[in-house]
Amino acid sequence: MLTKKQAKIFFLGGTLLFALIFLGLSYDTVVSGLPANTHPENITEEVLLGRTIWDDKNCMGCHTIMGEGAYYAPELTKVYDRRGPDYIKAAVNFKNGGWAPNGRHMVEYNFTDKEAEGLVAFFKWVGEMNLNGFPAEPTIK
Ligand code: HEC
Repeated sequence: MLTKKQAKIFFLGGTLLFALIFLGLSYDTVVSGLPANTHPENITEEVLLGRTIWDDKNCMGCHTIMGEGAYYAPELTKVYDRRGPDYIKAAVNFKNGGWAPNGRHMVEYNFTDKEAEGLVAFFKWVGEMNLNGFPAEPTIK
């Protein structure tokens, strides 16, 4: 049976130990984990332009990226690998009521070449992140 003093030391020591472990792991994530996995050195003006459009136009109202967003339209984390730059540009600037290869319509945008290139650069940067295997390959073909 612990005395009151021993219980206090046990509590404070345990709290301190796990607080230090938590801070150490947080430091490791921020200082080495995030940069190694997301490559912030590759964030160019073009990538930032794409990211701004992504937010301003609320693309997440229909799409997901890194799993975040809505489920009306395809997950776009790996769209650069899956479709390539020309396909992305065609999709985001499609006229006649918006891109709709399978019936559901995307909004009809009127991006400049520079804006479309920005979106491509943004998707390329997102696609090169190390996301520990996300999104998973479908097991059923
Ligand atoms: C109103 C809903 C909606 C919004 C908002 C929307 N999209 Fe889409 N998007 C779609 C639909 C629907 C498709 C076609 C899905 C299909 O293949 O049937 C699509 C397809 C795409 C594709 C091709 C994906 C693939 O794998 O074939 C890209 C790239 C894309 N959208 C980018 C964007 C970007 C960038 C924005 C914001 C500027 C955006 N979308 C906003 C609905 C939307």
